[in-house]
Order: sequence, then structure tokens, then C-alpha cells
Amino acid sequence: MTDSIYREVILDHYRNPRNKGTLDPADYSYEDTNPLCGDEVRIDLRVVDDRIADVKFSGRGCAVSLASASILTEMVEGRPLAEVKGLTKDDLLEELGIPVSPARLKCALLGLKVLKAGIYGVAHADDEL
Ligand code: FES
Repeated sequence: MTDSIYREVILDHYRNPRNKGTLDPADYSYEDTNPLCGDEVRIDLRVVDDRIADVKFSGRGCAVSLASASILTEMVEGRPLAEVKGLTKDDLLEELGIPVSPARLKCALLGLKVLKAGIYGVAHADDEL
């Protein structure tokens, strides 16, 4: 794919976010902000038989942060929790498909940070990325 197609993918996820919303009740729920801008993302997970049975995200942020969270929900839905715990920032950045400048890295990784914090507990979220 060319760069422009990747950009289209980001714009498409921003304009038509997948799995947008909240889950109540949820097995894991967490929200956090990008400390640089104050934008917020929340992710809710429902786990059945150690798999992500349902996932939703919500929040407000830039196109990169929200598109990235939307893409992340598609990456994890239906997957075993153990696999999702092992997701790295490189896995997500590869899925985004566009070069992310250092300034936008926290935008792109906000959803993953929130997801990990929800699963692992706040204290280890940054260590696990
Ligand atoms: Fe706030 Fe990107 S500018 S998350």
C-alpha cells in the first residue's frame, strides 16, 4: 500500500470509528489522557473464556489518537487476552501503517496505553508498552 492509502485508512477510522461507545458492565474499563494535550481515551473490555468478547472505545482527541484507538479495537476483538497482553507499540504502529513523528507518538499510543492499563492495572501500563 502507498502512503496515501494508509492515510486514507487513518481518516476512515477517524470519520467512521469502529467499536465506538462504552460497555456497562465491563470486565476491564479504564481511561487516561495524553499528558501533552489533555485528550482522553477510554476503553472497555468484556472477556469471555479468556478472549476479548467485546471492546468499545470512547473519548476525545486528535485524528491520530482516535483512529489509532479504533484500529486497536479491531486488532484485539476476538483475540485471547494473553495475546492482547503481549501487544507491543510496534504491533500497533505497524498496523497504523504511516510513519508517526515523535511528536505524535503519544497520540498514536494513547489507546494502547489505556488498554494495557485496564488489563494490567495502572502501575504497570508504561512498563508493558
Ligand atoms: Fe491530543 Fe493527539 S493531540 S492525543
